[in-house]
Formats: sequence, C-alpha cells, structure tokens
Amino acid sequence: MTRHFIIDCDTAEDDIMSLFALIKNGISVEALTIVEGNISYEQEINNALWALEFIGKDVKVYPGSDRPLVKPFRSVEEVHGKGGIGDEIVRPSKFKPESKKAMDAIVELADRYAGELEFLAISPLTNLALAYLKDKSIVDKIKKVWVMGGTAWGRGNITPVAEYNIWVDPDAAKIIFNAGFDITMVPWDVIVNYPIDDGLWNKIKDMNTKMSQFYIKIYSHYREYSMKNEKIGGTPHPDLITTSIAIDRGIIKKSDKHYVDIENCDCLTRGMTVIDYLDLWKKKANTEVVYEIHFGRFLDLLFDLLKWF
Ligand code: BDR
Ligand code: CA
Repeated sequence: MTRHFIIDCDTAEDDIMSLFALIKNGISVEALTIVEGNISYEQEINNALWALEFIGKDVKVYPGSDRPLVKPFRSVEEVHGKGGIGDEIVRPSKFKPESKKAMDAIVELADRYAGELEFLAISPLTNLALAYLKDKSIVDKIKKVWVMGGTAWGRGNITPVAEYNIWVDPDAAKIIFNAGFDITMVPWDVIVNYPIDDGLWNKIKDMNTKMSQFYIKIYSHYREYSMKNEKIGGTPHPDLITTSIAIDRGIIKKSDKHYVDIENCDCLTRGMTVIDYLDLWKKKANTEVVYEIHFGRFLDLLFDLLKWF
C-alpha cells in the first residue's frame, strides 16, 4: 500500500537527504512544507526546489511560516553554512513554490488522505501548529507524526538542555505534543551516538556515484562544524535517521511511551522536552521516545540511497 507523506523542513543538507530517502523508498511525498529554522527562509525554499531538480521530481513546495508563533529565534548558519549545504548559495532553475500557504495545504491533504497521511517534522513545529489551530480535526486525520527533536537526557545543541527544532518554537511544540497526535520523537542526544565516522565518510567518498558526490558536497560543512564544536565523532544525521525510522520502524532498537511536555517559558530551559519517565504525573502517554537504533540497518538504507544513481 502506498504511504503518503508531508515533509516539513527547514531545508539544509540533512533535510534534503531525508526527502531523497522517502522518494527512493517508494513513499508518495504529497508536499514539502517549509518552515523557519536553519538558514534564511528564502534560501530554505530555494534549496528544496533545487534538490527536487537534482533528482528530477516535481513535488509541490508550500511556503509556510517564516517565524515562530510567539518568540524570537535565530537561524544557525554557523552550523550548516550560509546556504544550508555549506556556504554556496544555490538557486532552482525551473521549479517554483506554490502560492498556497503550507497550513492550508496541510489541512487539505489531511482531508484527502484522512487516516493515511504521515507528517515528517524534521524542523520546528510552527506549520503543523498553525494547521492544527485552523482545523483541529487534523489530529484524527493525520495517522502519524514523526518528530526529529528534543532531548532524552537533557543534552541539547542550541542550549545546554534544548534541541534546536523544539527550541525555535516551543509554543508550537507544546501545542502539538498536547494535541493528541500519534507522535514518535527522535531526540538529539540519541542521534549523537550514531555519527558517520572517518571510515564511513571515506567509504562514501570512494563510491563515486552522483549521489555520493552530492552527499559529500552538501555535508562537508556540517561535518566539520559538528566534529569541532559539538565533539561528535563524525557527521550527525538527525533528520535522516528520523526519516529512516519513519521508512522502516524496525530501525528502532529501543523506545518507550511516555507523557512528554515542552518547556515554553523564555527562560534557562526554553524548549526542553520534559519526559515523565516515572509516570509521576499520571497523564496518558503522548509520545514514543526513541532511545537506541540498529545502526547497521540505518547504514544499509543510507548506502542504498547513495547507490541510487
Ligand atoms: C535539527 O536542527 C536543524 O539544525 C537540523 O536540520 C535538524 O533538524 C537538529 O537539532
Ligand atoms: Ca531540519
């Protein structure tokens, strides 16, 4: 049975490979919705269209919100480069964004694929929150929400305790986590345990496919930043690991269901994912939190993608 997805992204390198992974694995990507985040909003749209041109796939790209619901935020060009794929600024040559707004497209697609639609949020949750505020019935129509975001053990990347996607728009995240969606969350401090180390990086370099060359080009900046500043032993793949889990949930080695809430004060712990491990609050579990993955299975999916063409 065909699976139908919306990808919501703040298009940098790992968002792009996530899009490719879904398409390569036969998933019908009904829309790409763009949200504020990693780099300038305009460049996020450009990157999405440019990436689609690279694989020759005309998926509709809907611009959504270019800012969080309430709070100010900052983009992270130091992490992904000015262009989100390093410092190069790319432009699409033929594809154009839709004029319809992302929140309207999300509501319409939720209607069209009611009970089947899956939402891959590899980005702040503003667009989904706006769609939900417009039409609360999408909770029952969207089958699954896959979230790259938050932390399992309070080890963040944008503040000591907060992960970037949730930190950018903690108000949107609070709405979404408490709305009743079926959520699987892949935390940042789990992701850091599964980097592409030097050995794997060199293996990819030696593959010499068009896709492996593209991969090396778009990830080089992120890799250098992460190894130097985040002390990770290679390139992290927050979005691509989340996407791989969405494609093949057998990649999950260990997960648990908990009630998760979001700290949305403008304070020291802004954007922290507060996980009720011990069920102290006696609230219904709203999130499957992923703690460990089968790294080998993820690598199989990645290398398969790099062999595509
Ligand atoms: C997440 O934030 C963004 O910088 C990445 O694209 C990823 O979605 C990691 O914290
Ligand atoms: Ca992202």
